[in-house]
Amino acid sequence: MKPKTSRRSRGVILTLEGWDKLQAAKSEAEFEDNTGGERFSLEELSDRMSLSLHTVSRILGRSEPVDKGSLQKAFAAFGLELSKSYYTQPTPPCDDLETRQASPMYDWGEAPDTSIFYNRYEEISQLRHWVLEERCRLITLLGIGGIGKSTLAVKLGLQIQDEFEVVVWRSLQNALPVEDKLTDILQFLLWALRKEMVIPQNFEGKLSKLIECLVNHRCLLILDNFETILSRKSQVGQCRLGYEGYGQLIKLIGEVPHNSCVFLTSREKPRAILPLEGERTKVKCLQLGGLNSHDGRELFEQKGHFTGTEQEWKVLIKHYGGNPLALKIVAAGAKELFNGKISSVLDYLEQGAFIFEEIGDLLEYQFQRLSVVEKEVIYWLAINREPVSLDELAADLVTFSSKHQLLHAIKSLLQRSLVNKNGEHFFLQPVVLEYTTQRLVDRICQELVEKKRISLRLFKNHALIKTTSKDHIRETQKQHIIQPLLEKLLVELGSQKTHIIFLRNYLS
Ligand SMILES: Nc1ncnc2c1ncn2[C@@H]1O[C@H](COP(=O)(O)OP(=O)(O)OP(=O)(O)O)[C@@H](O)[C@H]1O
Ligand SMILES: [Mg+2]
Repeated sequence: MKPKTSRRSRGVILTLEGWDKLQAAKSEAEFEDNTGGERFSLEELSDRMSLSLHTVSRILGRSEPVDKGSLQKAFAAFGLELSKSYYTQPTPPCDDLETRQASPMYDWGEAPDTSIFYNRYEEISQLRHWVLEERCRLITLLGIGGIGKSTLAVKLGLQIQDEFEVVVWRSLQNALPVEDKLTDILQFLLWALRKEMVIPQNFEGKLSKLIECLVNHRCLLILDNFETILSRKSQVGQCRLGYEGYGQLIKLIGEVPHNSCVFLTSREKPRAILPLEGERTKVKCLQLGGLNSHDGRELFEQKGHFTGTEQEWKVLIKHYGGNPLALKIVAAGAKELFNGKISSVLDYLEQGAFIFEEIGDLLEYQFQRLSVVEKEVIYWLAINREPVSLDELAADLVTFSSKHQLLHAIKSLLQRSLVNKNGEHFFLQPVVLEYTTQRLVDRICQELVEKKRISLRLFKNHALIKTTSKDHIRETQKQHIIQPLLEKLLVELGSQKTHIIFLRNYLS
C-alpha cells in the first residue's frame, strides 16, 4: 500500500459535530432572516462572519485548514461559541499529480485534470462524510452534462485515496461490454492486491471475483459516464440492450455488504439504484448544481480579462445555471466576439440569440433520448417560461394519454437533470429553456413549411401565447417564441406570405 505522507498541516478544520452545529445555526438564521429560507450565498456568509470568501469556503469544506480565530468568528456570527469538540487537525490531503501518478496502487486511467477547481466545498464535505464516516457502498453523482460530475469525482477521489488500498478509475464512455470492463478492472485489482491473476471466463464468475475483492479489501472504484450504457429509447435509467449486466453489477454492489466504495457519475439516474438508495441505506445519490457567481466568474477569468459590473456577472452566471462547461464555452466566445465585455454578451442574450453551438450539442444529446411525452412536457415548460405546478402542466397537455403519463415524464425529466424543481413547481434551467425554445421554434417552422397542420397535438387548445399567462410572460413568449418563429418562416417561405398572415392571426 502507498506509504502515507508525514506532512502535517497547520491550522484546524471543523469536526463533523462542529460542522453540524454550524449548519444548524446557519439554517435557523436562513429561516429567520427575510430571505424566505433561501440559503445564504458565500458572499452573505463572508459579510456576516467578517471573513474572506476564501476562508469561509475553507471552513465549510472541512478539508483545508484555517486558523482557530477564523472558526471562532464563524461561530460567533451565529451566536455560538467554539468548543473543543468542534474542531480538529486535518489529515493532510494528497491530491497532487505527482503523488497520484507515483503510486502503483492508484490507477487513475484517463481521469480528467482537476488542477483548476473551484468551490464544491459543501458537496465534498457531504461526499467525504458518506464515504469515510458512513462507509457507503455505492454513491452516484448526478447532473446535467458539463456540470462537473467527473471533475468532482476525481477531486474527491484524490483527496481520500489514502484511505483505500486500491483506487481504480474507469470511464464507460466507449460502452465496453460489461464482461470486458470487468476483466479490465479485475486485471488491475488482482495485480494491485497481489492476488493470483485468475480471471473467470463467464460474467457471473467475474462479478463474484470483483465482489470478493470489494469484500476483502478497501477499494475505491469510480465508473464515469454511466449514462453511456443507459438506453436512449426505453424508460429512463434502464440499461441498453446487451448492457443489462451493468445493472446487475450495480445492484450487487449496492446490496452486498462490503468494505469498498463504488462511485458512479451519470447524467441520468440508473434504474437499478432506485430501490437501493435511501437516507438510512449505504447507497446514496448526489444531484450536482452549478457554481455560484463568485466561482463562475473565477472560472471565466481563467480565459483572460473581462469587464462587467457585479450585477452583470450575476445575471450571466445565473443564465447558464453556473454550469462550468457552459461558462467555459461562453467565456471563450465572449472573449473572441465581445472583447470580454460582459454587458455586450448580455445584450446579445437578451435578443434571445443562442450563440454557443457547443452547448447545443450537449443538450441535443440529452434531447434525442426523450420520449414523446417527455418532449411534450419540456416544450410546455418552455412555453410557460416560469415555474409551473403539476396541475398547470396537466392542463397544458392535450391528450388523455399524455396527461396520464405526466407524472412519469416529469420524474424522468428530473432524473435526466433537464428539469428543476422548486417546492411544488417545475422549471427549466436557463440554458435548457433557451435550447428547448429554439427546438420548439424549429419544429413548428418545419411542420408549417412542410404544409402540415401545426402540431395540433401540442397546440390544439392553446396558442403559443397562452391567454392565461401574465402580461410579462406573454411579452417574453412573443419575444422568444413568436418573433423568432415568424422570422424563420419569412426566410423559409419567402413569397408565400399567406402562410405567415395566417400564422400571425392564429397566434395572436
Ligand atoms: N468545480 C469546478 N471548477 C472548475 N472547473 C470545473 C469545475 N467543475 C467542472 N469544471 C470544468 O467544467 C468542464 C465540465 O466538467 P465535467 O467534465 O466534470 O462535467 P460532467 O458533469 O462530468 O460532464 P459530462 O456529463 O459531459 O460527463 C470541465 O472542463 C471541467 O474542467
Ligand atoms: Mg463527465
